[in-house]
Amino acid sequence: MHVMITGANRGVGLALSETYKARGAQVTGTSRDGSTGLALDVADPASHRALAARLEGQAVDLLVCNAGVYLDKGQSLAEGYAPGMWAESFAVNVTGVFLGVQALLPNLRMSEGARIAIISSQMGSDTRAPGGSYIYRASKAAALNLGRNLATDLREMGIAVGIYHPGWVRTDMGGSSAEITVDEAAAGLSARFDALSLASTGEFLTWDGRVHPF
Ligand SMILES: NC(=O)c1ccc[n+]([C@@H]2O[C@H](COP(=O)([O-])OP(=O)(O)OC[C@H]3O[C@@H](n4cnc5c(N)ncnc54)[C@H](OP(=O)(O)O)[C@@H]3O)[C@@H](O)[C@H]2O)c1
Repeated sequence: MHVMITGANRGVGLALSETYKARGAQVTGTSRDGSTGLALDVADPASHRALAARLEGQAVDLLVCNAGVYLDKGQSLAEGYAPGMWAESFAVNVTGVFLGVQALLPNLRMSEGARIAIISSQMGSDTRAPGGSYIYRASKAAALNLGRNLATDLREMGIAVGIYHPGWVRTDMGGSSAEITVDEAAAGLSARFDALSLASTGEFLTWDGRVHPF
């Protein structure tokens, strides 16, 4: 099994990488700085093209779109949320997911029963709107929407797409008072990815298997 994970140098991505390696899977972890062996800045189209060229002819069984940023934590409505912050966040959290899927489509099509897992967030759910973090919430809502529509289009190619909330995880992004460890998140998420199929494509689930309202 060949698993490809973006943002695999720290946080949830690193834990997922270690989980799959421990299971004996071939893991291609990417990172902006190339420290995981393969460089990918998900916001850079040229970087996606270079990665696709390096992986040409290799089947990818599971693509985990994990890389993400939360740049607008604590911004003020009156003065914060600068346009550049919107652009950068969407370039990573939304366009970055799309470009990754597009670049690796030939590799995914080579696999029997290929799967794509998009790491969104409960903060992307429209049913949960406590206010604030407008950029992050909107970008994760867009990632959820993208995943739902990709699920429809990729079904005929035999590729299943799931969208996930990884939990509130103790990482640089989640902070030290978050609820679960990266290992708990990775164990839960990998179990969800294992169960993802064309029968469940388009699902939006939490790390521990609960159906999340859209
Ligand atoms: N932690 C939580 O509680 C939580 C909750 C809900 C959803 N999530 C989502 O779960 C995913 C992982 O979060 P995390 O907590 O592990 O975050 P994290 O610790 O901040 O790690 C983020 C990862 O994304 C990478 N990344 C950021 N921008 C990138 C870019 N332009 N190109 C490539 N990689 C990039 C980072 O690489 P660098 O080291 O180069 O910056 C890092 O590997 C994210 O999508 C996040 O939105 C997290």
